[in-house]
Amino acid sequence: MSSSPKIVRTVPALRAAIESLRSRKSTVALVPTMGALHDGHVSLVRLAKRRAARVVVSIFVNPTQFAPSEDFDSYPRTWKADLAKLAAEKVDLIWHPDVKAMYPDGFATRIVPEGPAIAGLEDRFRPHFFGGVATVVGKLFTQCRPDYGIFGEKDFQQLRVVARMAVDLDLGVKVIGARTVRERDGLAMSSRNVYLSPEERRVAAELYRAMKETRRRIKGGDDIQAAMSGGTALIEAAGFMLDYFEIRHAETLAPITSADDGPLRILVAAKLGRTRLIDNIAV
Ligand code: PAF
Repeated sequence: MSSSPKIVRTVPALRAAIESLRSRKSTVALVPTMGALHDGHVSLVRLAKRRAARVVVSIFVNPTQFAPSEDFDSYPRTWKADLAKLAAEKVDLIWHPDVKAMYPDGFATRIVPEGPAIAGLEDRFRPHFFGGVATVVGKLFTQCRPDYGIFGEKDFQQLRVVARMAVDLDLGVKVIGARTVRERDGLAMSSRNVYLSPEERRVAAELYRAMKETRRRIKGGDDIQAAMSGGTALIEAAGFMLDYFEIRHAETLAPITSADDGPLRILVAAKLGRTRLIDNIAV
């Protein structure tokens, strides 16, 4: 039997709970999430447990990172199942504020990230996104004051943005990236995969195969641009509408011209029907 983690919904209650978690100078790791937890999130929690004595998971579907045309209202909310998963992992604390607790009346202060946040990848298609993410993660870090913040590599640009922000704003949090967890056929786990029809779900793993094939060609010495064009063709032939398929410097996300400009990362975003998928791999 697993006992239920403590759940707090207001900032004063959170402060008191964090104070008590830290009472024996315990280290604290925070896993920020929007709920709809899957095995990828569970792997973040397990990494957090290896790093710190205490683990806090936040569940907050953050309205400021969704454009009006996006899926804020329909974003999957699976509170009971999330709670069962976090209890099974013996998480110490769940921070589950409502929108008013996170953004009180008159809220007027935002973080505007630059550097990796304006690399011309996700920001080109979701210009509102990183401002919303940086603002809420900045708040989560100051609310929870964790020693570690754990983020999935699947949202690779987001990982680079929050890592940069933590350093730039002296937030005292070490940001740690966790490997992407994949389904058996290679599709990266994502809360939005539930939007895929059975036929789209079958095709979705082609994104990973195209990235792997492109990596194989680059590692084998092929011209980078030729390998990237080959990957683009594979993705489009599978039926995706491509937003971008790019190879970048893995730390700065700056464009690269040669395989020696590494470490390298291939990043992709593409729509399958109405579902937008993102993924990336190291080269
Ligand atoms: O990756 C996510 O789930 C969200 O962008 C995050 C980091 C929890 C901020 O809302």
